[in-house]
Amino acid sequence: MTQKFGLTRGNFFRGMILGKRSGHVQVSDQPHGRSRPTGRESAFADNEIIVTKTDTAGRIRYANPVFLRVSALKLEETLGRPHSIIRHPDMPRAIFRLMWDTIRDRQEFFGYILNLAKNGDHYWVFAHVTASFGRDGSIVGFHSNRRRPSTSQVSAISSIYADILAAERRHSSPSQALAAGSEALNELLSKRRMRHDEFAFAI
Ligand SMILES: Cc1cc2nc3c(=O)[nH]c(=O)nc-3n(C[C@H](O)[C@H](O)[C@H](O)COP(=O)(O)O)c2cc1C
Repeated sequence: MTQKFGLTRGNFFRGMILGKRSGHVQVSDQPHGRSRPTGRESAFADNEIIVTKTDTAGRIRYANPVFLRVSALKLEETLGRPHSIIRHPDMPRAIFRLMWDTIRDRQEFFGYILNLAKNGDHYWVFAHVTASFGRDGSIVGFHSNRRRPSTSQVSAISSIYADILAAERRHSSPSQALAAGSEALNELLSKRRMRHDEFAFAI
C-alpha cells in the first residue's frame, strides 16, 4: 500500500514540550510531537480487528493487542490518553467532526481513517465507531472496531481526503479550515446523493 499524502511539517511540533512548570516539563497529549510520518506502512492482517474503547471525552480506556502492536504503543502509553495520540496530520478535520457529531447523536459512524503509529509509521483503517449506553440510556463511552481496507479502497479515499485536506489548508484559522473541509465533504456527498456511511460502504 502506498502512502499518497506528502509529508507535512505543519503540525509535527504542535504539542511537543509546551513549557516548564514547577520544574516539571509539561508535555501535551497532542499527537504530532511523537514522530514524523515515515511513509512506511504499519501492517496488519485482513483477519485482525483493531479495537479501542474510550470514555465520553475520547480518552482511551481499553486497547486490544492488535491496536498496541500496529500503533507501536504500550498499554500504559494509551490508557487515559486522548485518542488523538494516533492522529495523522494528513487526516482532514472534517472527518473527525462528522465522526463526533454522528456518535454523539447516537448514530453509528463508518469511515476511513489514516493513523500514525508512535514510530511514525502509518496505517489505514475502515472504522466503525459508536456509543456505549448505560442502563438509563445515557452515553457512557464510545468504542471502535477497525478492519484493514483494500488497496483500491485506500487509493480511492486517499485522493478524496487529499482534496478535503487541501480545502482545509487554504485557511490558517482552525475553525475556518474545519468549515471549508466540511463544505468540501458535504459537496462531495451531495454530488453523489449519499449519506457518509453509504459513501464509505460504496468505496
Ligand atoms: C471510540 C473512538 C475512536 C477513535 N479512533 C480514532 C482513531 O483511530 N484515530 C484518530 O486519529 N482519532 C480517533 N478518534 C477521534 C479522536 O478523539 C480525535 O477527535 C481525532 O484524533 C482528532 O484530533 P484533534 O481534534 O486533536 O485534531 C476516535 C474517537 C473515539 C471516540
